[in-house]
Amino acid sequence: MDSSNDIVIDTPMDMHLHFRQGKMMELVAPLSAAHFAGGVIMPNLVPPVDSLERLQAYQKEISSACKNHVFSPYMTLFFRSYTEAELLAVKNKIIGIKLYPAGATTHSDQGVNSIAEAEATISLMQDMGIPLLVHGEDPEGFVLDRETLFLPNYADLANRFPDLKIVMEHITTTGAVSMLDQYENLYATVTLQHLMITLDDVVGGLMKPHLFCKPIAKRPEDKDSLLEAALNAHPKLMFGSDSAPHPIHEKECCGCAAGVFTAPIALPMLVELFHHHNAIDQLQAFVSDTARKVYKIEPTRKKVRLRKETYTIPSQFGNVTPMNAGCEISWKVI
Ligand code: NCD
Ligand code: ZN
Repeated sequence: MDSSNDIVIDTPMDMHLHFRQGKMMELVAPLSAAHFAGGVIMPNLVPPVDSLERLQAYQKEISSACKNHVFSPYMTLFFRSYTEAELLAVKNKIIGIKLYPAGATTHSDQGVNSIAEAEATISLMQDMGIPLLVHGEDPEGFVLDRETLFLPNYADLANRFPDLKIVMEHITTTGAVSMLDQYENLYATVTLQHLMITLDDVVGGLMKPHLFCKPIAKRPEDKDSLLEAALNAHPKLMFGSDSAPHPIHEKECCGCAAGVFTAPIALPMLVELFHHHNAIDQLQAFVSDTARKVYKIEPTRKKVRLRKETYTIPSQFGNVTPMNAGCEISWKVI
């Protein structure tokens, strides 16, 4: 906090982000790029980003959608079996490779059916120092247990590939938080919504499609563990919004798509949340420093200033409804 009571965040980073393509990207990319200095762009397009050519074309599309904003997109490839030559060619252009269990979430049909089938590529990734980013849910399990059922896979991977950096994406449970302290090579991202809501907020009263995402929000004690780790700037926990825009007609319908759209409100809401818990001094680490250290990245620096000013979250950004639409927040990016 500086003398004017504004809060200035140095180089805020969003380490798990869905930009989509085409018109949707033109809508959402500038919103992230206005508040963040960089982010990790997820590859679950249709078809997935799983070749150097697609990656480069996608990165170009992103750069033009971000217009004049200073924003460093850190690209990922969609996990499949890659040859050593393919990995060598792409190694310096990506921050990691994202593994999805088949069917676990939006556009994951081409994900893996077992960790065993992924091992040869994972071993090459370890040798080349390419981080493995994981959607850690067992899609066969009961929905509330899917992350917990997946945790032994993290333990196994962490033990068998000790030099591989593994990021547990969008963790939602106490069990996942505790894995961070048990395995040196495990790291994690956590979203805004999982620091704020439980399953009750999604389906405990009237159903809230705009809070529905994968992994689903869990129990109060899970949220408390995540929040405690974030508010204390756990050195292996990074902010990753998992901002996942879907057009309204795909959310407010029978068969609601999974994904919560938070890009334009994430930073002010994080400030509000950390401020509320008297932890504002920890926010810089959670939303920037930890990620830059963990991934050893040097995005172009940018300072983002927020002022205590009441702001009503718009009901829509284009054809997308954000989390907490219509609610007031007390911080605004200026
Ligand atoms: C994400 C999406 O819509 O792309 N959805 C979600 O519920 N989080 C995919 C993902 O990260 O699981
Ligand atoms: Zn995601």
